[in-house]
Amino acid sequence: MSDKDAVRTTWATGDYDAMMRQEGLYEVGPRLVQAVGVRSGEDVLDVACGTGNATIPAAETGARVTGLDLTPAMLARAAERAAALPIEWVEGDAEELPFPDSAFDVVLSTFGCMFAPRQGVVADEIARVLRPGGRLGLCAWTPDGVIGEFFRVVAAYFPPESGDSPLRWGDPDHVADLFEGSGIELSFSRSVSGIHHESPTAAVECYATKFGPIVLASQALDDRWPALRDELTDLFTRTNTSGSTRVVVPAEYLVVRGRAAG
Ligand SMILES: C[S@@+](CC[C@H](N)C(=O)[O-])C[C@H]1O[C@@H](n2cnc3c(N)ncnc32)[C@H](O)[C@@H]1O
Repeated sequence: MSDKDAVRTTWATGDYDAMMRQEGLYEVGPRLVQAVGVRSGEDVLDVACGTGNATIPAAETGARVTGLDLTPAMLARAAERAAALPIEWVEGDAEELPFPDSAFDVVLSTFGCMFAPRQGVVADEIARVLRPGGRLGLCAWTPDGVIGEFFRVVAAYFPPESGDSPLRWGDPDHVADLFEGSGIELSFSRSVSGIHHESPTAAVECYATKFGPIVLASQALDDRWPALRDELTDLFTRTNTSGSTRVVVPAEYLVVRGRAAG
């Protein structure tokens, strides 16, 4: 199986859409669309769009929207969610965007392009397809937020093979380096979205049954899974802000906004 096929298998496993609905993370896409000021008639690309978190609210503005993702199963669910909205769904790689130069007024990505391994190539591709004067809006989990800690707990069981951690997209200095020389002027802010579950145990059960990377991790770990499960349960217990057993965890992410020269 190629590396790209492995990525497709990972994200097609479980039920990402059900997890997103449970957690409340579909609020991030509309927030980003508003922050970037997507307008009717603009050409918009959502990179690694998944089930349409930013794609669908962008299309609701009347913009002409393309959602690109490597995983056909994600695109199929996105198209179901989008119902009658006229979105173009494209199977493709963030590292090799199948679009001409300067094709889009706006490029968006919510927790998406951060997962493509060759980060400099992805940044170059995003800059290439953005028109002069075009706008960029990206969201990525910060290394020091709860999801950053979640990644580190999991990585202790699955040491990364090579390459930069996806969390580096949540570091403004690194993102500035990635886009250096692109002519895109960047600004950064941090935002928080509450992640909701019935309990810490239910949170981990949700990941183990619905979130592809953790479904596969739990299977691969076999009798070491209970140790990871317990560490993740502890993480959701420690970071819960609800004051009850219901989980509300504030998950911090970096918002990158940019404007191309011209
Ligand atoms: C965490 S999901 C985010 C999906 C969506 N943007 C959201 O906010 O819910 C990551 C997505 O990145 C996609 N992906 C991973 N590597 C990719 C690549 N090289 N090119 C395009 N999409 C990729 C996966 O298929 C998956 O849909």
